[in-house]
Amino acid sequence: MKTIGVLTSGGDAPGMNACIATIAERADGRDVRVRGIFRGFVGLLEGNYLPIAGEVSGLARRGGSFLGTSRNGDVEKALKQHGHQGLFEACGIDALIVLGGGGSLGAAASLAEAGARIIGIPCTIDNDVPCANYCIGFDSAVNRALRAVDEILDTAESLSDRVFLVETMGGQTGHIALATAYSAGADAVFINEQPIDIDGAALRIKTKMDAGATHGLAIVCEDMGTAEIAEKLQDGVGRKVRLTVLGHIQRGGNPTFMDRQIARQYGETAVEMVLSGESGKMLTYACGDIRSMPLVDTIGKSKPIDLDKYKAVNG
Ligand code: F6P
Repeated sequence: MKTIGVLTSGGDAPGMNACIATIAERADGRDVRVRGIFRGFVGLLEGNYLPIAGEVSGLARRGGSFLGTSRNGDVEKALKQHGHQGLFEACGIDALIVLGGGGSLGAAASLAEAGARIIGIPCTIDNDVPCANYCIGFDSAVNRALRAVDEILDTAESLSDRVFLVETMGGQTGHIALATAYSAGADAVFINEQPIDIDGAALRIKTKMDAGATHGLAIVCEDMGTAEIAEKLQDGVGRKVRLTVLGHIQRGGNPTFMDRQIARQYGETAVEMVLSGESGKMLTYACGDIRSMPLVDTIGKSKPIDLDKYKAVNG
């Protein structure tokens, strides 16, 4: 009988639990058992795991990861301490399914290079794993951000004469901010992948409000200097700027339909791949279908933003 380990690494993402539950369900009744490893790669090296089977399916609708995660720094430290050899021994597994973002899947890629049997599943609200069209958690996070913007716009339309600046998560990448800005019909979006043009944004918003619009809306990704952007926008538009920082509410809560569905598809495919002896692959999503590619081919790459949508927002 084969033993598959599953772990979640990096930031948690809505849909991770659905994916773990699917892996357990898919393995049920087959010649394989599943061990859920606590706290990511750290738990892998410490032998900290829980045998899981179909009974975890009730967790599928919950946000976060019931296994807990470890950040990339912990992964590197742990791997340096223990080395790649004997990596699977403490948990007694033959193969590993890793759910995580770019850093975690990068670590998975180097383990696969060293001979470990690994399948990677892209999971991060940031949706920035290179070559993966879709990362579990993104849809839930953007929906959370959009709902907040909708609520802000209720008051924006009543109060009038204010500019609303909303900060999203995303780390160094602007996928959440851009998707939110585009879907909300914002006047401007500020993201790392493009030069900041506050004067241009201020002029657009001022012109629109001088012509009678009740409010302006701009979205900024974290780590862009939000306070300074707010100040300059206020000066440029000549109206009050009100800032909302969304923070971790984007990462919590029940996964959306899209995240649950893709989490299930990724989970089912990962189990089948392990059982058919495949390894060193990362799952990807394309027009409803799940595909895979070598984990090593993702190393050193980045995921570009959708430039057409960026131009559509920023005019
Ligand atoms: O998991 C991704 C992410 O939510 C990023 O968008 C954000 O920059 C980071 O994690 C926040 O990390 P932490 O919860 O460790 O502060």
